[in-house]
Parts: sequence; C-alpha cells; structure tokens
Amino acid sequence: MPSETILIVDDEQLIRWSLGRALQKEGYNVIEAEDTKRALSIIITAEPDLIVLDQRLPDGSGIELLQRLHDKGMTTPTIMLTAIDRSDVAVQAMKLGALDYITKPVNIEELKIVVDKCLEATRLRRQLHHFKKENEKRFGSYKLIGDSPAMQTVFEQISKIAQSSATTVLLTGESGTGKELAARAVHMLSDRQDMPFLAVNCSALIETLIESELFGHEKGAFTDARMLRKGMFELAQGGAVFLDEIGDTSPAVQARLLRVLEERIVRRVGGSADICVDVRIIAATNRSLEQRIAEEKFRTDLFYRLNVAHIHLPPVRERGDDVILLAEFFLNEFNIKFRKHFKGLSEKTKTLFRQYAWPGNVREIRNVVERAALLDDGEYIFSHDVHLGHLHQLHDQKVTTVEFGPDGLSLMELEKKALLAALSRTDGNQSQAAKLLKISRDALRYKMKKFGLPKQQHDGE
Ligand SMILES: Nc1ncnc2c1ncn2[C@@H]1O[C@H](COP(=O)(O)OP(=O)(O)OP(=O)(O)O)[C@@H](O)[C@H]1O
Ligand SMILES: [Mg+2]
Repeated sequence: MPSETILIVDDEQLIRWSLGRALQKEGYNVIEAEDTKRALSIIITAEPDLIVLDQRLPDGSGIELLQRLHDKGMTTPTIMLTAIDRSDVAVQAMKLGALDYITKPVNIEELKIVVDKCLEATRLRRQLHHFKKENEKRFGSYKLIGDSPAMQTVFEQISKIAQSSATTVLLTGESGTGKELAARAVHMLSDRQDMPFLAVNCSALIETLIESELFGHEKGAFTDARMLRKGMFELAQGGAVFLDEIGDTSPAVQARLLRVLEERIVRRVGGSADICVDVRIIAATNRSLEQRIAEEKFRTDLFYRLNVAHIHLPPVRERGDDVILLAEFFLNEFNIKFRKHFKGLSEKTKTLFRQYAWPGNVREIRNVVERAALLDDGEYIFSHDVHLGHLHQLHDQKVTTVEFGPDGLSLMELEKKALLAALSRTDGNQSQAAKLLKISRDALRYKMKKFGLPKQQHDGE
C-alpha cells in the first residue's frame, strides 16, 4: 500500500517541523502549509489522506477552512488542533466533519495514536464503500436470479458483453423472461454505469412521437415543437439507450436507427446539423426478427447491425428448478411488502410450479406469488392458494359450459355445481372456496348444508 499523505496546517514553523518529523518517522508522507490559502490549494491538488489543522491561522481560522471544505462537499479526514480552553472549537469542528481533536501543546505520542486511528477508520470506510458498490453490482435492484445452466450461460454473456467494447447489444426472449432487467445489468456492469440509461418502448409510441423522442427536434420543426428538444440519443451521451420492442418499429424509424448504428450520428427532426453520439444501444424484442424480415416488416441490414452481441433469455420452462428459486425470491419480496411471514412453498405447490408451463415467464411467477402472498396468511403457500393461468381457465369453463336441457336448468343446480367446482379447485378448503365464490365462509357452510354436501376438512398438506 502506498504510504499515506498527511497535510499539517499551522502557522508556527517549529510546530510544523516537529509534528512533521514525528509522522515521517512513522512512514507517512508529510506536506506543510502555513495558512488557509496555501492549505486549500494543496488539498485540491495533492488530495492528502488526512489533515492536521490548527485553529488559529494568520488568514482565518481552521474552522473557517473546515466550513469551506464542508461546503464544497470535500470530506478529507481532519484532526483539529485546539487550545485547551476552547472545547467549543472542538465541538464545532466535529460538527463540520472533523474526525477528532487534540489539545495544544501537542503530545507527539497522542498525535501518532489519533492519526493512526483516523487513517484506519478512513481505510475501513473506503473498503466499506467499495464493498457496498460491489455488492450492489451483484445483488442490487437488477438482481438476476437463476442457478440453471441456461441462466449461468446468460450471466456469463451479460458480464462479458457488458465489459466488451460492443456498442450494440440485442436481447431476445419471450415476454416476461427478463430482457429489460438484463439490459440494465449490461449497463450497470459496464464502464458506462455512472452515465444515463434511458429506456424507450418503441411499440408504445406513435411514429412522429418516437422520432422526436429518439432524435429530438428543433424549435418549430412541427406545430407543437415550440421549444428545442434533445432526443434520447443525445441525452444518453456516454451511457446507453434501451430500445424495447424494436421489432415493432416502422420502416421510417428503422431507416433512421440504421444511420445511428452505422455512423453514430443523429440529426434532430427539422434540423440540419449532425450530432455525434457515443451511446451503447441495447435493443430488445420478444418477436422473431427473422420472421419479421420474412414478412418484410423488418430491414435485413438493421438486423445485422443489431445482431453483433446477442443474448437470448430462455423461457422459464427451460430453466429447471429456477422456477422455485424465483418463486421463493419473490415470496421474500412480498413478505416484506405485505408484512407476511411465509417460509416457503409447500411440496405440492413446488410440484405444481415445476409442472406448469409458465407462458408469462418470470413476470407470471411474480404475479402468481404476489397474489397468493397478498390473499393468504400462514407459513407456507399451499397449492390451493395459487391460481395458475390455465387451471383457472379450465375451472371457469366447467362453470360456464353448463348445458340447458329440454326442461331448462335449475339455478339451484348451477349453484351447487359452482360450489362443488370451487371446493374441488381448493382441495376442500372452505375459506379458499368461499373466496373464489366471493361469498362469506358462513354463507358457504349454509349452502353446503342446504345442498347436502359432506363437510370436508382440509388443514394442510
Ligand atoms: N432472472 C430474474 N430474476 C429476478 N427477477 C426477474 C428475472 N427475470 C425477470 N425478472 C422480473 O420479472 C419481471 C419481468 O421482467 P422484464 O420486464 O425484464 O421482462 P421482459 O423480457 O422485458 O418482458 P416483456 O417482453 O414483456 O417486456 C420484472 O419484474 C423483472 O424484475
Ligand atoms: Mg420488457
């Protein structure tokens, strides 16, 4: 580790010399300043690791210097030297961020200990900051869950591409597979992470809007263009633009995008100047671009420009047991959100989750778990607490395809069928069945008795 630099600010040369020598002997680099003006310029240019600052200086006080640093948002660790009868100065200094203080005359041994302690604290803080950043990178808001080989491959591709010089990335995958999350991960793992990440949904905007959204417009370019507006590409300068649903863009937009990809130049709508843009373009689509090309809805040349670095997000049904991992991850999220205390999924629910095809992919898992966590209480999510898409439809069909016989249909009979369907759907759990039928549990019990249905007990799995 390079030795740390300490700045000593004191107007008395003898004090600077004796403190400086003592600290140099400890292996530190020492710089000296005799007044606040010189101290400030050293702090800015040499960026010392620690300042030992006297309160009384010829051109102002140490507190004033601390205040100025504080106002500039500079957080160089500082030890204040104060007169023994000026505890108010010590208090003020600590309030302005000083780490410690020493009373004059300075005891060299005390100084060494305090300096060592302050630098240690600074090192720890720096490490903590670094650790936090690293942690955020891996476990931050764009945490991608998955242990399956398919997802491990995706993670490797994401981190490789993020750190590569590829300025164009194409993400494909069915709806809800995590394309947007992957796009954010690519950005956050890249050198561009501190620069903007701007997302635009190409299918949600009408053509004229999308052009001015992406490329900006000059004042007066069209009726509503009362002011100059910068487009996404310009605003994301140095960062990334996420073009969601790129497969849905019109031929006109495709032509303009091609130019951006080829030349990294944009021109505002109604403008004549070419503006150079340095942005990573991350495009996503849940449609097959090859098929769009075959239908003559997508330009081949644009496809080749986009398809430089390609990441495909596999559907959930190809991710093995990730479905359980994802469900438990979301359950944890909703435990916090809804103040619930679920410990996990019951074995039967796990089996159900493994068998189900999840056409809505990760988004569907999240929705199903959210619903169960919201509506239920207890320790486990039981199979009768979850409502999976196709099961739901089957159940609905059973009720709605009741046929009218030649004599018509008894409403009581229909009610009985609905009751039976609800009970079978919930494995006989009465409160769940009541919820499905949108009646109270008492009303359900009454009806069961009325129709002579046997009482079923269901306490768990
Ligand atoms: N691997 C994953 N780990 C954790 N959460 C995920 C994962 N993949 C997706 N999600 C979550 O699932 C939801 C859907 O993901 P996202 O919006 O990224 O999908 P998408 O592929 O862009 O979908 P669409 O094509 O419908 O726009 C989001 O809430 C996202 O946070
Ligand atoms: Mg999306």
